[in-house]
Amino acid sequence: MSHTYPLKRLAVIASVLSYTLILSACATHNTEDEHTVYAPGLGEFMAQISTRHIKLWYAGDAENWQLADYELEEIHEGLDDLAKYHPTHDKIKGSIPNMIAVYMKAPLEQTEAAIKVKNVGAFRAGYDSLTTACNSCHQANNFGFNVIARPSGNPFTNQSFQTQL
Ligand code: HEC
Repeated sequence: MSHTYPLKRLAVIASVLSYTLILSACATHNTEDEHTVYAPGLGEFMAQISTRHIKLWYAGDAENWQLADYELEEIHEGLDDLAKYHPTHDKIKGSIPNMIAVYMKAPLEQTEAAIKVKNVGAFRAGYDSLTTACNSCHQANNFGFNVIARPSGNPFTNQSFQTQL
């Protein structure tokens, strides 16, 4: 008789514990869901790409080829991520990976080649074709009112675009 009471207590503790475990498992599951569903929207990707487009200009203009190469690569990665997370979009007529290949591939390669040979004139020409390509995709998607241009003033005064090495 003396040891039935502790056994009952053990059973109660066990059931409370399993209930707590189930609750915490549910809580963890919900948090994970919230994290996995978020992906930046098309406009957010564009705003990032546009920032890199400005920085690319100031890096190339200062003949800081290492930085120019980095910024161009960031534009490339931004476009790759855009294609991955939004293969289609209600604002884009057709496949986004396809449009990026059609409009962006050649000017990206042209700019990359200019950076590799460290030629500022070729860089400017590559940069202008890249900018024209941005606008061609905007025009093809009823977004021609958003016009991209060579930047005319550097908004990133907290970053030095001059070569440091
Ligand atoms: C695949 C076609 C496509 C390409 C390529 C493209 N854009 Fe866009 N861009 C769009 C569309 C569509 C929108 C409208 C997005 C929205 O409203 O959700 C947009 C929006 C923008 C915006 C407005 C974002 C804002 O918050 O103000 C900027 C800036 C921009 N693009 C810059 C660029 C630059 C710079 C390039 C080239 C390096 C580029 N885009 C290449 C299709 C494209």
